[in-house]
Amino acid sequence: MSNLLILGGTTEANALAKAIADRGIPATYSYAGRVDNPRPQALPVRVGGFGGAEGLVKYIHDHSISHVIDATHPFAAGMSRNAIEACHAAQIPLVALTRPEWAPQPGDTWLRVPDIAAAVAALSGNPQRVFLAVGRMHLEDFVSQPQHHYLLRLVDEPDVLPLPNCEVVVARGPFAEADDRALMQRHGTQLVVSKNAGGAGARAKLDAARALDIPVLMIDRPALPQRLELSSVPQVLDWLAHSGVNLGV
Ligand SMILES: NC(=O)c1ccc[n+]([C@@H]2O[C@H](COP(=O)([O-])OP(=O)(O)OC[C@H]3O[C@@H](n4cnc5c(N)ncnc54)[C@H](OP(=O)(O)O)[C@@H]3O)[C@@H](O)[C@H]2O)c1
Repeated sequence: MSNLLILGGTTEANALAKAIADRGIPATYSYAGRVDNPRPQALPVRVGGFGGAEGLVKYIHDHSISHVIDATHPFAAGMSRNAIEACHAAQIPLVALTRPEWAPQPGDTWLRVPDIAAAVAALSGNPQRVFLAVGRMHLEDFVSQPQHHYLLRLVDEPDVLPLPNCEVVVARGPFAEADDRALMQRHGTQLVVSKNAGGAGARAKLDAARALDIPVLMIDRPALPQRLELSSVPQVLDWLAHSGVNLGV
């Protein structure tokens, strides 16, 4: 009997959860618990960390998990590394549902940096109006560059703001290019800082930056150990069928 664990928190994970629920396959959707009101799912949901790779092995055993699908964000590297280690230790199959990276298009001005620290270093220099689209977890890293005015777009209203000079927009994607263009014009944005998340929901800011001729400081994805990666829900369903899961159709 199969029992899937979906590591979620992304649009892709939500689409997979719906497909799995539609087929009546036993599965649990896992959230880290980073946002106040996570989207409801058609599957049973659990919230919170497992306690490292060891904790995840215990969860796998305690809940008789047969397969893990890591559909977390490409920058959730800690969770993804733990999933690789835990599935190896528990000897159960793991697949990652990922999305292709964004690539620069004609008209884009990108400066690519390998990680957040390099993005912070690249911001030394004269004050600018910066759209800092890196999510709540990494704001503190940018404290060492307080000279800029930052536009922050966050899922929840923050309790405290580490950056002295900033404006917060509370919004949840997907976003549209015209809206992001208007936002950036209103804010007088001179630079966009973005993680190379890939996918459709967050790329509007890149299209808007191109249209407005605004440069982008693009942070590359963290490297992960070798794992099986698929890029669509049908591919994951095929993989499940070939891994012994009864899809019921
Ligand atoms: N990073 C981003 O830019 C970003 C953007 C959009 C959505 N998200 C989503 O937000 C969540 C957290 O991202 P992050 O970058 O903070 O991850 P992370 O740094 O890789 O994870 C840190 C720890 O949070 C827990 N965790 C992460 N994802 C989890 C999940 N789906 N279920 C249960 N525990 C989870 C794990 O704790 P334990 O070690 O205790 O198990 C993990 O070791 C992920 O689910 C991700 O898909 C992240």
